[in-house]
Amino acid sequence: MKTSAPRGSALLGLGHFQPEKTLTNDDISQLVETSDEWIRTRTGIRERHVVTEDDTVLSMATAAARMALADAGVGTVDLVIVASTTTTHRSPSTAARVAFEVGSAGAGAFDMNSACSGFEYALGVADQAIRAGSAETALVVGAEALTRFTDWTDRSTCVLTADGAGAVVLGAAEEPHVSTSVWGSVPGLTEAVRIDGDPQLFTQDGRKIMRWALTEAADRARDVLAAADVSIDDIEVLAFHQANLRIIEPLVSALGGEDKIVITDVELSGNTSAASVPLGLSKAWHRGDLPRGARTLLFGFGGGFSYAGQVVDLPA
Ligand code: ACO
Repeated sequence: MKTSAPRGSALLGLGHFQPEKTLTNDDISQLVETSDEWIRTRTGIRERHVVTEDDTVLSMATAAARMALADAGVGTVDLVIVASTTTTHRSPSTAARVAFEVGSAGAGAFDMNSACSGFEYALGVADQAIRAGSAETALVVGAEALTRFTDWTDRSTCVLTADGAGAVVLGAAEEPHVSTSVWGSVPGLTEAVRIDGDPQLFTQDGRKIMRWALTEAADRARDVLAAADVSIDDIEVLAFHQANLRIIEPLVSALGGEDKIVITDVELSGNTSAASVPLGLSKAWHRGDLPRGARTLLFGFGGGFSYAGQVVDLPA
């Protein structure tokens, strides 16, 4: 039996893409009865990027993937996973098409649907594939066109949703730079976030989710730190699902992370579901806001009701 698997994986590069079109809160208040003041105070969101007919989950995922590959200096990968809940096709997978578009057509490829925590699930699976020796390099993408599934007459959801993509390249490493992933789901919240009906539209029980996020999410994020065998003192960057600033800020406080670099991209990008963590992280990385090698806590949560996270070192 072959047992030559590497001991871990490492992040080699990051990339992102956002559609050019933006909608401000004032733009949204032309569509439904709301206001810039309500949206900013309840969610922190100031504007969001939304797809036009030229943008698809595939085009956004491909653009983010190309940027991540260039950042990593990697030509081809042998595994591609795309986390998304809003792909246009059931088959072929978006991952297979991205693999083709970026010149890795022979790679293993599949999509992963775990809503807003999909990227962290995909990263965990890619890390395990590398640890197990099934892949040497992997491209992990979160990409969503959530506004295509938005009810633009429902003010409780249309102020939140947005579109975009984020990607990372992972490679085999002698030491683990991606920790053991923690993942799970929350009993009683299975139906709290949905994209269904005819037409299929995004709905959620915002108050129930908010209650879970303010009472239990910090404990689940602490589980991630414990699985990585680190404490909050060892962490430099906090990158949580960008659902609402009113969730991110209390979560940071509950973890004692006020002195950390906190990703708050929701303010300018809205809620992009599975794309939100890699998108916010990559934007900050390419602005030069994040130190090389910075130890980073990733934590996503959403439909399912699922959560997942891991501790990663940013590229050295
Ligand atoms: N503008 C003005 N008023 C509004 C708006 C709006 N856009 N939306 C709702 N309201 C009103 C409601 O009608 C309600 O009025 P009422 O008291 O007269 O009935 C009032 O504001 C309060 O409504 P709530 O739903 O209690 O508002 P809340 O403060 O909870 O904020 C929000 C709603 C922003 C959705 C919040 O609950 C939230 O962020 N929840 C978490 C969502 C989340 O994290 N989802 C993550 C998983 S899903 C995903 O990421 C894709």
